Amino acid sequence: MQKTIAVIRGDGIGPEIVDQALQVLNRIGTLYGHEFTYADVDMGGSAIDKWGDPLPPEMLQTCLDSDSVLFGAVGGPKWNHVPGSMRPEKGLLRLRAGMEVYSNNRPAKIWPQLASASPLKPEIVEKGIDFIIVRELTGGIYFGRHDTVAENGEAVAIDQLRYSESEIRRIGRIGFETARKRSKRLCSVEKSNVLDSSRLWKKVMHQLSEEYPDVALTDMLVDNCAMQIVKDPSQFDVIVTENMFGDILSDEASMITGSIGMIPSSSLGDSSRGLYEPIHGSAPDIAGRDIANPIGTILAAAMMLRYSFDMPREADCIESAVSAVLSQGYRTADILPPDAAGCTLTGCRDMGRLIIDNLKKG
Ligand code: IPM
Ligand code: MG
Repeated sequence: MQKTIAVIRGDGIGPEIVDQALQVLNRIGTLYGHEFTYADVDMGGSAIDKWGDPLPPEMLQTCLDSDSVLFGAVGGPKWNHVPGSMRPEKGLLRLRAGMEVYSNNRPAKIWPQLASASPLKPEIVEKGIDFIIVRELTGGIYFGRHDTVAENGEAVAIDQLRYSESEIRRIGRIGFETARKRSKRLCSVEKSNVLDSSRLWKKVMHQLSEEYPDVALTDMLVDNCAMQIVKDPSQFDVIVTENMFGDILSDEASMITGSIGMIPSSSLGDSSRGLYEPIHGSAPDIAGRDIANPIGTILAAAMMLRYSFDMPREADCIESAVSAVLSQGYRTADILPPDAAGCTLTGCRDMGRLIIDNLKKG
């Protein structure tokens, strides 16, 4: 098969981790007879430096013309002074909106080899951590009106949180469909004791649940959910929630699995073209030192093969190679146990190379 992938290296550690993922994809192409061609896209701080715009229109067009997009990370202190509408992160938000990828899937699964890297007590980890956060990605407070105005002699900042029924319904359906393929339990997370948008969210979820009688729907307030994720994560299977709650809860969920550096994500809309990225940021403090963990990005590439290119064997092949390397004891700094017992500290490039060495056609 021939596929064109738009590649956004971005800022900070983005270029290093994306390069490892591309090498993994190249090897998969050789093993399984696929041809992946890459179209470079500038986005974020590097695009601001080069083009004065975090996502120039022609860059978005390259993404829309591709079969899928692989993205590293954007942002960094260098661009902290630029106005909100031109920040590096704005490029990512425009990309998500432009691609209409409203459904963001963030798995929180503990690799058995990394159980000791979880900050939770072993007796909690042993009960199992394997859930998915389905995060609404193109609505809510991220995309409402943003403004800073003067009122009574002081600045007042406004961020509008809005959701329409149709926006809630389409992400709700993804939540139910995802739960249907797993243990048929869906937890809808909101703040309906305070927010109108959450009361509408809850109402739409319950309307939808009549179409999915085989899925058990529960409601949970977001503050309680944040607590339950550390108290007993084994209770969750699929969580569906709005944009900002999903942003916050997915960082929390990733940490209990050992490291945010391990977690990939897929963002999809109504077409097969998706946006695939690790959920971590650009980590400018460790950029260029060959110590970042490329696994989240490599697993994001695997998700691309599985969900956008219908290549499940190829995706399995990558995931098995990651598992093998972890079993062999190789660890980047973020997942190295404090006593490093039985483990070998590995840099970003070496981790990529080890995963490639372990790719075995199944
Ligand atoms: C994420 C990130 C982004 C978000 C930032 C970089 C805009 O934190 O993908 O979780 O808030 O969605
Ligand atoms: Mg985030």
